[in-house]
Amino acid sequence: MSTTRAHRTTTRHGGARTHVASSGPTGEQLRLAPASRTLAPSPTLEINEAIAARRAAGRDVLHLGFGEASFPLPPKLREALAASATRTSYEPVVGIPALRDAIARYLSRTRGLDVSAEQVIVAPGSKPLLYALFLMLAGDVLAPAPAWVSYAPQARLAGRRVLVVETDPEDAHRLTPRALDAAVARGRHAGADPRILIINSPSNPTGGMFAREDVEALAEWARRTGVTVLSDEIYAELAHGWRSHVSLATFYPEGTVVTGGLSKTYSAGGWRLGYAVVPAGAAGRKLLSALRALSSEIWSSTSAPIQAAAVTAFSPDADLETYVRRSARLHGYTTGRLRDALVEMGVRCPRPAGAFYLYPDFAPFKAALAARGVTTSEELARYLLERHDIAALPGTAFGDRPAALRLRLATSMLYGGLPSVSPAQQDAREGHDLADEHEARLWALLERADGLADPISSTGSVEIELPMLDRVGQRFAAFVESLGSVGASS
Ligand SMILES: Cc1ncc(COP(=O)(O)O)c(C=O)c1O
Repeated sequence: MSTTRAHRTTTRHGGARTHVASSGPTGEQLRLAPASRTLAPSPTLEINEAIAARRAAGRDVLHLGFGEASFPLPPKLREALAASATRTSYEPVVGIPALRDAIARYLSRTRGLDVSAEQVIVAPGSKPLLYALFLMLAGDVLAPAPAWVSYAPQARLAGRRVLVVETDPEDAHRLTPRALDAAVARGRHAGADPRILIINSPSNPTGGMFAREDVEALAEWARRTGVTVLSDEIYAELAHGWRSHVSLATFYPEGTVVTGGLSKTYSAGGWRLGYAVVPAGAAGRKLLSALRALSSEIWSSTSAPIQAAAVTAFSPDADLETYVRRSARLHGYTTGRLRDALVEMGVRCPRPAGAFYLYPDFAPFKAALAARGVTTSEELARYLLERHDIAALPGTAFGDRPAALRLRLATSMLYGGLPSVSPAQQDAREGHDLADEHEARLWALLERADGLADPISSTGSVEIELPMLDRVGQRFAAFVESLGSVGASS
């Protein structure tokens, strides 16, 4: 260490003693590696701190910044986990055979993919697998803007350059071969070697999904250019119903790695269970063995009880299928209602086809916002929090241009009821009473989900009360009203 010195002194008895003298806490003792500099503080961190401060001051903040699925766990999965609690040994690095087999069959059954268990690797979440893929595959990374917050930091940590693929807000942020060609050309011109494309349908942050023709066009593009596609399908089960999920592996199986997991489908992010499926054949086997080697050096294996319980989650079961269908339907209903309300107010917002996100664009209010000193998505997010107690993430967190006045809204936490008792009474009640009440409410909502009104398919007639959603709508309405008329500012 450069700032510590060793020097010898003589003891009273004439013996030599070595002192290690420290020069004090200069920070040198904890010097960081260059990789740490690729990471900026998480965009959610600042907003979470601001929300915590406002709540501590007694403000009623509506939190649309947190994208966690929040339905209760199906009883069958709870029972399956309890039954495997005694599995305490390490499991095979790539996952237990029963689970790899169940996932392969699941993808064949639900997505029509021809997958065998040997192509599947299981990990503590799909997120570490995506990072492992960025580390093990060659080349720089093409990532659409907007895209999930972690792709770019992960790719950079893996020493890759991130090449932004532009999308058009007027075209619902659709990813096109033309934009890909442009990104590749720009990247090559700058000395990059684009070889990996990350896609995500349904998308976080937009909720958009590829139409079948888009998937075919992207597959053709990837085959022509020889790019490896990482198809993050973590929200596939949460398609709202008006557009079917089509995996890119359907048309480009030799070059597509599909990832997914339990986090969104079963509101089980804390279980940390994800998977990746590599292509069949010799090249796929090589990739899987590279992933296995890396996994063995980092996480060894995925939690044994969770893997055993996950076999149930991926096996055919009418109750679980009903649960997933109803969750997806509820997300569709909720995002659809908020989207319609925003559009009515003059906000631009593509209709989501899956997941629990909206990606509204406040461009029609650009002039009115500029007059209030708001010219970027970060300023907009701050303004909404400070003036209207609405918490949302700015588009910049997803790689969007700072001047684009877009935000990501997560609707997954809007299913709670309004507190029926005062805060003082709440304090006096057992915490678990309230938790039970909340869970019962969520089950009741899921029960009614099959009949929910759907303006696109014109099916269903059931409307449900979502008081939190109504409040979000009211606050946005107050915000928009405070800005004056749309026409005057667009
Ligand atoms: C687009 C996307 N991909 C991957 C993940 C990570 O999921 P997992 O819990 O499997 O690591 C998330 C979670 O937020 C996500 O939104």
